[in-house]
Amino acid sequence: MMDASRRRFLLTAGVVLSSVLHARFTAAADNELRRRQPLTDSRYDQWAARYDMLNGGHESALPRFFGLEQLRREAAQAARGDVLEIGMGTGLTLPLYSERMHLPYHASPGSVDTDSIHRVVGIDASAGMLREARRRRQALPKAQRDQVTLLQADASERLPFEDASFDVAVMLYVLSVADDPGQILRESLRVLRPGGHIVVADHVRSYLPLVAAYQNVTADAVRALSKGCRWNLDLERLLHVAAGDQIQVASRKRILGGTVELIIARLCLPPQPAPASPLARL
Ligand SMILES: C[S@@+](CC[C@H](N)C(=O)[O-])C[C@H]1O[C@@H](n2cnc3c(N)ncnc32)[C@H](O)[C@@H]1O
Repeated sequence: MMDASRRRFLLTAGVVLSSVLHARFTAAADNELRRRQPLTDSRYDQWAARYDMLNGGHESALPRFFGLEQLRREAAQAARGDVLEIGMGTGLTLPLYSERMHLPYHASPGSVDTDSIHRVVGIDASAGMLREARRRRQALPKAQRDQVTLLQADASERLPFEDASFDVAVMLYVLSVADDPGQILRESLRVLRPGGHIVVADHVRSYLPLVAAYQNVTADAVRALSKGCRWNLDLERLLHVAAGDQIQVASRKRILGGTVELIIARLCLPPQPAPASPLARL
């Protein structure tokens, strides 16, 4: 027969062991669930309906006044071939792309021979923003609508695309709000074809020292008040840290006292095998 103190000890050990096991299983199940849930960034959901009023679209004169509309046009102009837009938001670029979706398209490896846009894949983490983008896609003529795919995805995770499957990756005002901009850039490079282009526009630290100092001092407050926007990015450095000498900056443009920048950079072709020496044939 077991005495009472031994029974109490075994009972307590059993309870402790089962609690530990339960906690471990629950944590593992939670992690698994989190892993399987569609990734979504709800920060932007609440802004989706009002976003265009402040940031673009025909309804708003502000972006036109500040030159932001023109910058967006120039960014969209760099798109051709197979285009991936990361953080497409409400789809403000869709009508701009659609102007060149009907042109004849011919691509050879590493180059797109015309200005034509063949297909557009727009991804965003926010379901609300994508809802607005779908509305914008619906307004396109049917043939062009069919060339646009919209997808909810987190670009800081591995994107659901093969390596080297796009000619241009566009990121407009995404890197400043993303939690891991470096990872987004690395992922966009992975899915770009050699010779393809990265098109980024975003808020950056001004070249005017006083403005830059003001941006630095207020950066935390602005971030807290503006859906997490870092408005003092160093975009070119961010690109170089993520891409090293894989990319060459093709053009840069700054507006608004240097606080908004558009960079178009080219993904260099991988090293080509050296041509065979004529002597090798002898
Ligand atoms: C400031 S808005 C810009 C939207 C659009 N590019 C434009 O120019 O109007 C930033 C967008 O990036 C999206 N976003 C932020 N982080 C993201 C991520 N990791 N993956 C995909 N989208 C992301 C947000 O949901 C939001 O729609």
